[in-house]
Amino acid sequence: MVHKTLHITRTHTFSRFQVSEISTILDQTTTEHIGELVEGEDGVVYLEPNLEVEDIQQLQLDVRVAWEDFKGTSEYKLLSCQRIATRDDYITTLKTAMSLRGQKEQQINRCITWLEGTDFFTAPGSTRYHDSHPGGLYKHSIRTFNIIMELIKTPIFSSVEIIDAAIVALVHDWCKIGIYKSYLRNVKNEDTGQWEKVPAYEKVDSPRPFGHTGGSLYVSQQFIKMSMPMALAITWHMGRWNVVEGDYNDLTLSNKLYPIVHLLQFADQLSITDYCQEYLDE
Ligand SMILES: [Fe+2]
Ligand SMILES: [Fe+2]
Repeated sequence: MVHKTLHITRTHTFSRFQVSEISTILDQTTTEHIGELVEGEDGVVYLEPNLEVEDIQQLQLDVRVAWEDFKGTSEYKLLSCQRIATRDDYITTLKTAMSLRGQKEQQINRCITWLEGTDFFTAPGSTRYHDSHPGGLYKHSIRTFNIIMELIKTPIFSSVEIIDAAIVALVHDWCKIGIYKSYLRNVKNEDTGQWEKVPAYEKVDSPRPFGHTGGSLYVSQQFIKMSMPMALAITWHMGRWNVVEGDYNDLTLSNKLYPIVHLLQFADQLSITDYCQEYLDE
């Protein structure tokens, strides 16, 4: 009996705050719970739950090997809330999260091919408010992801699935794809008094005029199956900044019912503050 796949459960992940300390082990083929793996300072220990195993030493060895293998995977990186930094990290993390949410490989590849064919990795995050430089949009998304991975470690958000949080952070601003156009703006140089042309962005008509959050939800749902809490998190990610009076009750209700809604709002807002950027740069 060889078990090469380890599944880390959320309960263990955050009851101990360190994913590397204890993991539940499920049999890959039957999803039967076959024990716990505890990683301490002195090494790795496998705890068996009332299961008859012919060769416990061999099983422990297999588990150790599997654990070491698993630690090198993108699945482990996501489940242990590791930070990401680059365009490649973004793509790998999105693919991993989609896969863990049960999306088929073909669908995942379709999504990534589409995304790479857009201006997502070159567009700014806004025309003048935050990340208004080339690449600002995906960098803002990465920062939102990294902050959500920090916030989710607090017991207040312990009921939120890591994978769901990862996905909503990564896709929450897909509505901004294809809506910015660069141009040269006349700016007066304060030192010389001369007018100079500097690169800037302006908004064009959206190819998906669903409004800010509706556009993200529409596009992401072409590729990713969203639960209602995930869809609500994307819908209300602007919090009170983007809500008309008639929708205010729905925003309040969503915040009340589903922690992932507040979680994304907080991460999105924090990601554009200087002190969070400094914290992430440390
Ligand atoms: Fe947004
Ligand atoms: Fe955002």
